[in-house]
Amino acid sequence: MNQHARVDAQPIPFIDVAAQRRRLGTAIDEATRRVLDHCQFLMGPEVTAFESQLAAFCGAKHAVSCSSGTDALIMVLMAKGVGRGDAVFCPTFTFCATAESVALVGATPVFVDVHADTFNIDVHSLKSAIATAKAKGLKPKAVIPVDLFGLPADHDAVAGIVDAEKLFVLDDAAQGFGGTYKGRAVGTFGLATATSFFPAKPLGCYGDGGAILTDDDELLAVLKSVRVHGGGSDKYDNVRLGLTARLDTIQAAVLIEKLKIFRDEIEARNEVAARYNQALKDVVTVPVVPDGYGSVWAQYTIRLAPGRRDALAKALSVEGIPTAIYYAKPLHKQTAYSDFPVAETGLPVSERLAEEVISLPMHAYLDEATQDRIVDAVRRALR
Ligand SMILES: Cc1ncc(COP(=O)(O)O)c(C=O)c1O
Repeated sequence: MNQHARVDAQPIPFIDVAAQRRRLGTAIDEATRRVLDHCQFLMGPEVTAFESQLAAFCGAKHAVSCSSGTDALIMVLMAKGVGRGDAVFCPTFTFCATAESVALVGATPVFVDVHADTFNIDVHSLKSAIATAKAKGLKPKAVIPVDLFGLPADHDAVAGIVDAEKLFVLDDAAQGFGGTYKGRAVGTFGLATATSFFPAKPLGCYGDGGAILTDDDELLAVLKSVRVHGGGSDKYDNVRLGLTARLDTIQAAVLIEKLKIFRDEIEARNEVAARYNQALKDVVTVPVVPDGYGSVWAQYTIRLAPGRRDALAKALSVEGIPTAIYYAKPLHKQTAYSDFPVAETGLPVSERLAEEVISLPMHAYLDEATQDRIVDAVRRALR
C-alpha cells in the first residue's frame, strides 16, 4: 500500500453509473430505441414484461411498477385507506421519504429507534412506539421497516409484533431490493414492499421509478386503480382518489436490461464489501451482516467515534475520494418531522449513529486497485 497521499490522482466516483453503462454496451440503446419506434410511452409492453420479471426475481406474486419509491409507499398507504388518526411506525434513521409518505396521506409517523450494528428497526423500541401512539389516542395501523443500506431488517421479529397488534407491514426496500433474509428475498415480507429505481439505487433506471411487490390480489387491483387517478371500470370512471404514478415505458425498457445483470452485480458488491471489511476492520467499525442475511450494499457505511469523521471526509476529498453522510440528522430532528411522536423510550441509538456514520464509494464496478487507493487513504487519515 502507498505511504503518501496522492493529491494528483483521478477523482473516484461515489457510484459509477457510467461503468455499468459501458458493460451493458448497446443493449439499453437498442431497448430504448424499440420504445421510440413503437411509441407506447406509457403502459407499453415493456412495462408489463418488466413487472413479471421483477416479481419472478424475488418470488412475489405481483409487481406494480410506478413513478418512484416515494409514490410506491404512498400508493400502498392510500390503497389501504391509511389516513387521519392512524399511526404508522418507522425508523427515524432513514431517508425522509419513509415518513413523508405517511404524513402526506394524513396519518402520523411515529419514530422508532434502530440497532447500532445493523442500522435497522429495533423491535423493543417499536413496542414502546406502539404504546406511545395508543397513549396519544392514535390507531396503530402499519409498520414500515426499512432495509437500510441494502441490509434486510429483522423481518421475523417485526412480524411477531405486527401479528400480535393486527397491523400490516409495508417494507421500504428502496435500498434493499435484491437482499435476502433467512432464505427469502426482499419483496416477499409483509403485505407489500416498496422499492425505488432512483439511478443511484442498486437497481436503478435512468430517471425516477419505483415498484410495489405483493402477493395480495385485492391490493393489486386497488394499486392499479390508484396508479391512474383511481380508475374503476375504465379511466373515466373514478371510484377513488388516485395519482399519476406510472413508470415510463422507456424506464421499464432500461430496467429489463439492468435486471439481467443484477444478480451478478449483487455478487460483485458483496466482494467489494468483504474486501473493505477485511482491510478496515482494525481501524473503524465496519458494517455487520448477521448470519442468514444477504445485503445488496446500497451503501458501505462505517462508524467512527463522534468528532472524527469530518477530518476523514476532508482528507479523502483532497485525494479525490468522495464520501457521504447517511444520515446526519435522524428524521425526528428534521424541521418537517420534529412535531411527530417518538417512542417513549427515546431514540438514543439513531442520535448517536447520526454523529458516527460515513459512507465510502460502493458499486459493482469498484476495481481492486481503486478500492486499495480508498482503503490506503482511509488508513492514512486515521493514523
Ligand atoms: C429508504 C428510502 N425510502 C424511500 C426512498 C424514495 O425513493 P424515490 O427517490 O424513488 O422516491 C428512498 C430513496 O432515496 C430511500 O432511500
